[in-house]
Amino acid sequence: MTERYDVAVIGGGPGGYVAAIRAAQLGLKTACIEMRQSLGGTCLNIGCIPSKALLQSSEKFAEARHSLAEHGVEIDAVRLDLGRMMARKDRVVTTLTRGVEYLFRKNNVDWLKGRARLAAPGRVVIESPQHQQREVEAAAIIIATGSESAALPGIAIDERRILSSTGALALDHVPKRLAVIGGGYIGLELGSVWQRLGAEVTVIELLDHIVPTMDRELAAALQRALARQGIASRLGAKLAGLDQRADSIGLEIEAAERHTIETDAVLIAVGRRPYTQGLGLEAVGVACDPQGRIVAGEGFATNIPGIYAIGDVIRGPMLAHKAEEEGVAVAERLAGQKPHINYAAIPAVVYTRPEVASVGQTEEELKAAAIPYRTGKFPFTANPRARTNGDTEGFVKILAETATDRVLGVHIIGPDAGTLIAEAALAIEFGASAEDIARTCHAHPTLNEAVKEAALAVAGRAIHI
Ligand code: NAI
Repeated sequence: MTERYDVAVIGGGPGGYVAAIRAAQLGLKTACIEMRQSLGGTCLNIGCIPSKALLQSSEKFAEARHSLAEHGVEIDAVRLDLGRMMARKDRVVTTLTRGVEYLFRKNNVDWLKGRARLAAPGRVVIESPQHQQREVEAAAIIIATGSESAALPGIAIDERRILSSTGALALDHVPKRLAVIGGGYIGLELGSVWQRLGAEVTVIELLDHIVPTMDRELAAALQRALARQGIASRLGAKLAGLDQRADSIGLEIEAAERHTIETDAVLIAVGRRPYTQGLGLEAVGVACDPQGRIVAGEGFATNIPGIYAIGDVIRGPMLAHKAEEEGVAVAERLAGQKPHINYAAIPAVVYTRPEVASVGQTEEELKAAAIPYRTGKFPFTANPRARTNGDTEGFVKILAETATDRVLGVHIIGPDAGTLIAEAALAIEFGASAEDIARTCHAHPTLNEAVKEAALAVAGRAIHI
């Protein structure tokens, strides 16, 4: 007998599992179909979480080697136990993916294990890992299948020497040299991990600046900071060919001048693309755009009634928290509510050291839109907490509309920027002015005081610079 659900969510990542939990909370009979052995999608299994675990561990290693002595903490011999570092990362992942399983049980979401394919509007076929097929019916089907690493033509990933992010999260040794193709989120975060653990890292970026979606001033500051740590960037450069030899890899780089780089491992991190393979979109007639993203309109509805799509498979930034917001919103829509997502207030964070975080518009975007703005900047060197922590690299930059003082963009490079940016996202969400932030009492001594001072600086009245 075919099982019937109100909602069937395809994909158990941050978009899908959140949609499933919210739908179940709202009283809808919900299933989530996931083919991996664990829930949580790319983010929990092979993305955000394992990378942050390794960033944390590698930062501790680098601190022990380079900066604890300044605090009067002397360590004679610092050794790396990579196996233990990786095992810890795996435990963190397992704890969190099991946490999602627990939340499913608590909310009565059925996890249907297997690979889903759309059979018709309202019908999904699921092939179990043992290749058994079953069919479920659902009044609403939510596609939340996420994304996969984009490939470079002619380059085969072996996850040993030619790596995607998945392989770069699980190496069993530190490569002597690592070349990173793509100076975006993944390249810089995983490049940082391996540089801290001892690899010589070179980033090869097609454009003339790294982290292309970020404010240019931050991108330049990050590049300088990474260069000081020993991560070299080659800008305006492209991988033209790759010669694998027994003991090294020759990378042919097309730049102002064509040249070769010798390396031991290569990480390909040139973006991600929507993952829709084998989903049966064509058979059912779900429309995609030329980039392969499912076209989702009002309320995340596709062109086929009863089929919805959220997260990395549709337009917008490929970020877990964007997918989560959409997961909540689609479920609430299906339950008859009228949720709203403010796409102008979605923060973005690169977890390098210093961290880079951004919300709202960049200076480049404001200039292009001819919106007059004022800038307030405050450096962490003048923030007492950053001083006490010994972590003073970076600054806060606030962009506010000249006519109204409304905050349009906040860009932070510095310690804990990813946490600090939440205050800025809230300000933008509430339509705050720079003065609203400036007149809000911030605890002393905290890093957040740098945000307040940057807001004061918009009106030229910062106190501590
Ligand atoms: P990305 O889009 O952030 O960066 C890719 C970079 O590769 C760009 O700078 C691009 O100009 C460059 N590029 C493209 N083709 C190239 C070529 N042939 N040669 C040299 N450079 C080339 O993509 P990335 O880093 O792969 O990350 C994928 C997605 O995952 C991103 O959209 C990001 O949103 C998400 N992500 C988010 C993280 C976070 O929130 N902290 C961490 C990791 C990933």
